[in-house]
Amino acid sequence: MQLRIQPTSESTAADFASFLKEKLQAQDVLHLALSGGSTPKLLFDHMTAHADDFPWERLYLYWGDERCVAPNDTESNYRMTNEHLLSKVPLPKENIHRIMGENEPKIEAVRYGELLANTLPKQHQLPVFDVIMLGMGSDGHTASIFPHEAHLLKENQICGVGTHPESGQKRITLTGPTIKNAKCICFLVTGAGKQEKLSAIYEQTEESKSYPAADIASGHQNVIWFVDTAAAALIPPA
Ligand code: 6PG
Repeated sequence: MQLRIQPTSESTAADFASFLKEKLQAQDVLHLALSGGSTPKLLFDHMTAHADDFPWERLYLYWGDERCVAPNDTESNYRMTNEHLLSKVPLPKENIHRIMGENEPKIEAVRYGELLANTLPKQHQLPVFDVIMLGMGSDGHTASIFPHEAHLLKENQICGVGTHPESGQKRITLTGPTIKNAKCICFLVTGAGKQEKLSAIYEQTEESKSYPAADIASGHQNVIWFVDTAAAALIPPA
């Protein structure tokens, strides 16, 4: 388990930003799938504050998941990304491929899957992202694959429809096979609320086998965890 531990959530975001910057400097095109929720805000704010460091024209953005809401809804991952990043940096509009949360979920899952199939390089008949950024919920979910919908980890579609276990909110999500087909998977996990699940995944406990984040991490050879000391507090020192 490749762990990059930083003292704070801000320095974790900065560490991941420098990882992305190095990747962008090393290749002409980078296909990156973004996670949503609140953790990415610090990353986007850091990238915005250091916008001159990034060759934006090389970056092609997608999302690993999106809530089934309008793009200007306060719940929208696209809206959050636009507020903290897209509206502030010179990323060409044509490089941005948002999931249309306003569409009927099943139809959008097919549409977005076809977009990915037609836009990204393919391997094993699946689109290949250079980097997929993922968060992890305090229940061990990742993207919008929740523990009660583990079938999405094995679904043979490129995208599926998930359901938030408390709110019942529908979400479009990349499926497990699509995520695992990426060249590199980067988890960005900060805060004390994640420490129990993170240490269970690190220790590979029986319980952790039910966490979608653990399934994704165990099924890939190039997974990097960008975490802060609060999230890593229960992991024994190296
Ligand atoms: C979403 C995310 C989701 C998120 C985790 C962690 O749409 O909410 O993609 O998988 O990454 O829930 O969320 P926080 O960063 O808010 O803790």
